[in-house]
Amino acid sequence: MVRVFSQQNIPTPESIEKSKEKQKFRLLKFLKFFRFLKQHWNFQQLKKRWYKIKTSRRAFISTVAGGSFLGGIAFHYALFVESRWIQIKKYTISATNLPPCFDGTKIVFITDSHHGSRRSYNLLEKTVRLAQQQSPDLIVLGGDYCNNHEEETIQQCFTAFQHLSAPLGVYGVLGNHDYKRTQTLNAMRDAGIRPLVNEAFWLIRNDSRILLGGLDDDWAGTPSFAPIQQHILVSPFTIILTHNPDVTENLTEEGKKRIDLILAGHSHGGQVTLFGLYAPVSVVKKKYLTGLVKPFDNAKIRVIISNGIGTSGPPLRFFAPPQIVVVTLKKNLMSEYTAF
Ligand SMILES: [Fe+2]
Repeated sequence: MVRVFSQQNIPTPESIEKSKEKQKFRLLKFLKFFRFLKQHWNFQQLKKRWYKIKTSRRAFISTVAGGSFLGGIAFHYALFVESRWIQIKKYTISATNLPPCFDGTKIVFITDSHHGSRRSYNLLEKTVRLAQQQSPDLIVLGGDYCNNHEEETIQQCFTAFQHLSAPLGVYGVLGNHDYKRTQTLNAMRDAGIRPLVNEAFWLIRNDSRILLGGLDDDWAGTPSFAPIQQHILVSPFTIILTHNPDVTENLTEEGKKRIDLILAGHSHGGQVTLFGLYAPVSVVKKKYLTGLVKPFDNAKIRVIISNGIGTSGPPLRFFAPPQIVVVTLKKNLMSEYTAF
């Protein structure tokens, strides 16, 4: 049997009477309200109310106009000013285990040039000029060299980078944007840049040596410490170059103990941030967004993340300026780090 009402909802004569009473009460209430309006609403009041509406509309329009103006200024600043404004970010890394011969060694770190974006060749030339002005002992490149797959773009990029030179050499790793890996690696070699893909090189000064290792990219390749592990175990001081700083999280306890410094890019410092306080788009873990990080309380390892030079996506930077990182190694009695 199909029921339209459940048993308790079937209307009874009492409930019908009750609902009629309710309707009568509502009608009386409405008439009372209408009488109230008639008595109290006069022309002056209406005029006052209209003025209020007018002024609030004016406030709304001026807020929208002011917001658009400020937004326009911020957009132009992000597009034409900050994205070209290369900052030299300096760090000093002090360590007891640094061989004395390497005291004062200056490392210039350039990453995420993203050549292929608008105006980026000028930016590359400026980057090379500024890097050489730092009188580096060693130059390392963090990948994401180009923004597109064209071979011409890769060639152009390394035509600029071939002017980089340092006594201890120029080394580089690949990033997730270096889609044409073989062409990029060849162009690097032609430009005098030594690629490090899960490889390590000894940097030698007099009778001392420190280790520079480079990892493959975490997104586009297969990073592995296995091929360089044996060198890390015997090295007095180890620097690891990687595009993506998140690989730090995969270190073993031994790795955390043995590695002194990791240099990474990839984050672009958030690229477009809320006045440097919050980065709505972050491709890395929050703690590796930018700057110097001591990721583990119980280990000496430090990570320096650069904002990089170029841009991916919209060619904008807001409170995340392009950076060339300069790290000075210091022989110290106490192992600590400072940034300035
Ligand atoms: Fe990048």
